[in-house]
Amino acid sequence: MSTARIDAFPADFVWGAATASYQIEGAVHEDGRGESVWDRFSATPGKVRGGDTGAIACDFYHRYPSDVRLMRDLGIDAFRFSISWPRILPTGRGAVNEKGLDFYDKLVDALLEQGIEPFPTLFHWDLPQALEDEGGFPVRSTAEAFVEYAEIVASRLGDRVKFWMTHNEPWVYAWIGHSWGRHAPGRTSERDAVHAAHHLLLSHGWAVDAVRRACPEAQVGIVLNLAHAYPASDTPEDEAAAYEVDGQGNRWFLDPIFRGSYPADLLERNELVAAVVQDGDLEAISAPIDMLGVNNYVRFIVGAGPEGPRLQHNPEAQYTEMGWEVYPDGLYELLVRVTRDYDPKAIYVTENGAAFGDVRVHDGAVHDPERTSYLQTYIHSVGRALADGAPIKGYFVWSLFDNFEWGEGYSKRFGIVYVDYPTQERVPKDSFYWYRDLIGGRREAPKPAPVVTG
Ligand code: FCB
Repeated sequence: MSTARIDAFPADFVWGAATASYQIEGAVHEDGRGESVWDRFSATPGKVRGGDTGAIACDFYHRYPSDVRLMRDLGIDAFRFSISWPRILPTGRGAVNEKGLDFYDKLVDALLEQGIEPFPTLFHWDLPQALEDEGGFPVRSTAEAFVEYAEIVASRLGDRVKFWMTHNEPWVYAWIGHSWGRHAPGRTSERDAVHAAHHLLLSHGWAVDAVRRACPEAQVGIVLNLAHAYPASDTPEDEAAAYEVDGQGNRWFLDPIFRGSYPADLLERNELVAAVVQDGDLEAISAPIDMLGVNNYVRFIVGAGPEGPRLQHNPEAQYTEMGWEVYPDGLYELLVRVTRDYDPKAIYVTENGAAFGDVRVHDGAVHDPERTSYLQTYIHSVGRALADGAPIKGYFVWSLFDNFEWGEGYSKRFGIVYVDYPTQERVPKDSFYWYRDLIGGRREAPKPAPVVTG
């Protein structure tokens, strides 16, 4: 097994951990927060496994001071979290809820006090329900509302926050939420998915400008879930099938952002796209970004089937609790390919990690050798891609805590910290100590000077 070595990484490489608002915060009815599509969806019987909701989650809303101290003990340079739109604008636009802004303001200060760089994402799927009721991301006015929201948040936090991501995984929000119906808002229309994807991209492009206006020093980017697609064999049919899967998941987003156009093969197959694109949209979407966030959990082995591409199982591989194949080379190939084809200025691996069936044993600890080995081998792949020229600036483990894993509820544990939900006790798993020691072993790097707050 190839393991991660810290000396493969430059001293200023950013080591972090990632989370998202609805997955950890809880406090859904507090301090004026509005309803989000995930509150509505998880309260709908049959939608989330076990009837779980994010109503309490990890109670991060109340426990963030001690959680930030835990982050300091871990030794991370940066914390990736998302901002809950319905805390800031309970009905999506218009009246601002100052208490919502105050929460993130205090969180940012608490992080900076510990020398931890805040890495917020503006949208990690918890759309205000009021906007969903007006049509949600399939309609253009939601993209306009997103820009208003982005501007409000960036104006309040931009004196201290330097790194901004607009959206998290627009593919997932668009397709799983609008076509497959397995995530909020739970729609089942391909047309809605395609239109949502376009408006997510458009609102990203507009928000890049809005954040820069509010905060000229900002580094702004977007987070995509990307996965390398391998043909099951070298027949032209399988190669075409793999290319199609690559188009649906990767190029659909990468091409508009980096090239200002949708891929031609995709436009040929999907006439729903053209119906929603207006003049100037692609220029807006391709506004230059400072960094690309890459979330990676899977690779695809694709064969041609009678009804289109078919994903294949690898009988020799280890699979995680999510049913995702452990294949660290896939991350290497992805990073090298994205660099070759799109030449991003900087890449951050904004999520990577694994769910395994962790249990707390008699000694009170959580021994998770599979997760440690997963992280070791994937981080090793990141180091290889870096050595081969990919401009990777940082890596964030998904996740700091076990948390609300969307449609799977609390049944899947991704954390390097175990959360005992009934007591809210945090128990660092063995992988936490492994990651702490890995980060702690680097050459002493001068930390970036903390930004002084007024
Ligand atoms: C990603 C999401 C993240 C988490 C992981 C496991 O798709 O961005 O919130 O659920 O998967």
